[in-house]
Amino acid sequence: NDPLRGIFRFYELMAPVMDDKDIVFLGEGNTPIVQSSPQLSAELDGQKLAFKNDGQNPSASFKDRGMACAFSFLNYLIRTQGADDILAVCASTGDTSAAAALYASYASDKIKSAVLLPQGKVTPQQLAQPLGSGATVLEIPGVFDDCMKVVEHLADNYQVALLNSKNAWRILGQESYAFELAQWYDWDLEGKAVFVPVGNAGNITAIMSGFLKMYDLGIITALPRIFGVQSHHADPVYRYYAEAPKKRKYAPVEVEPSVAQAAMIGNPVSFPRVRYFAEKFEAIAGEGSFQVVQVSEQDIIEGMLLANRHGHISCTQGGECLAGLVKARQLGLISADETAILDATAHMLKFIGFQNMYYENTYPAEYGITPKPELANMPELVI
Ligand code: F0G
Repeated sequence: NDPLRGIFRFYELMAPVMDDKDIVFLGEGNTPIVQSSPQLSAELDGQKLAFKNDGQNPSASFKDRGMACAFSFLNYLIRTQGADDILAVCASTGDTSAAAALYASYASDKIKSAVLLPQGKVTPQQLAQPLGSGATVLEIPGVFDDCMKVVEHLADNYQVALLNSKNAWRILGQESYAFELAQWYDWDLEGKAVFVPVGNAGNITAIMSGFLKMYDLGIITALPRIFGVQSHHADPVYRYYAEAPKKRKYAPVEVEPSVAQAAMIGNPVSFPRVRYFAEKFEAIAGEGSFQVVQVSEQDIIEGMLLANRHGHISCTQGGECLAGLVKARQLGLISADETAILDATAHMLKFIGFQNMYYENTYPAEYGITPKPELANMPELVI
């Protein structure tokens, strides 16, 4: 269990004040970049693409990168400041809470966790995770944005550690995604485009921040292009960037049910940081280096099914990235020769209920999903 493995290979870039003995390492990071199967690439008209499978992290999502760093910092506080009773709290669409609860239960008996979830809007697997880790689980009637208001109030008024991506240590840890990607491609990111599903916007912030850090240090000499992807049922960032630069005005949106449930967020807390880093990208790499595309619910679930049918293990948010790539191709924003790297942010098994609803044709009307017979044609289930 060498603490300098995984994301902590890059600790000089992420968290220089940390000491080895504070590091909480559960094997996060080093996730594979899996080249597209020839079948998937052929379906997409010869598109070059790959998935970075961040679902292969310990709690099965990219959140572990940030939690490893944030809980290492809490351990540092315990060691250096004598803190001995820390309550780690977060609002979550299911993955942040799974990761926070896991790392809290591992890091120290001086840390307890409490997570706030929108009732009925996380998958059974995601609900089982914090329960299994011994967290206090609070279900709030409403959506993620309502949970976020409650934890922000807690963080402003009480001595708690906020583990959402407002926590800078989370962002630092999640920058490791960019470092790993750059290393995988031998520090040559010319002709690469990274597709990222956007919810609370912490992930895309961290990824852009990581690439810019490497660029500023001369570790890479070209930035990849960044494509944020949002569902038409939760698209405040898309709406902002869809306007001409002078007309842009940010407004939260009311979310509607989404199969990319983990990204179903109407008022992303990290939106100001996205704007900050997007401007930096454009200043260095010009127009088109940062873009946001919008996809439909039907596109997202079919993206997931298409990827998985051709040998990948994509969650719905990975399907959202694939749908975003198809959309970007249709809009002429990317060519088949540019390599698209799709961020499969969680493991497919967390979101498998959405696949099964497609095959069983049981989607509630609010999703607006009608299964296509040619895709719904499953091998027969014999009991
Ligand atoms: N994909 C997955 C699997 C997620 O869990 C999330 C966010 C996103 C994409 C969007 O990333 O928020 O950084 O823009 N999940 C958070 C949670 C909100 O509470 O688990 P983001």
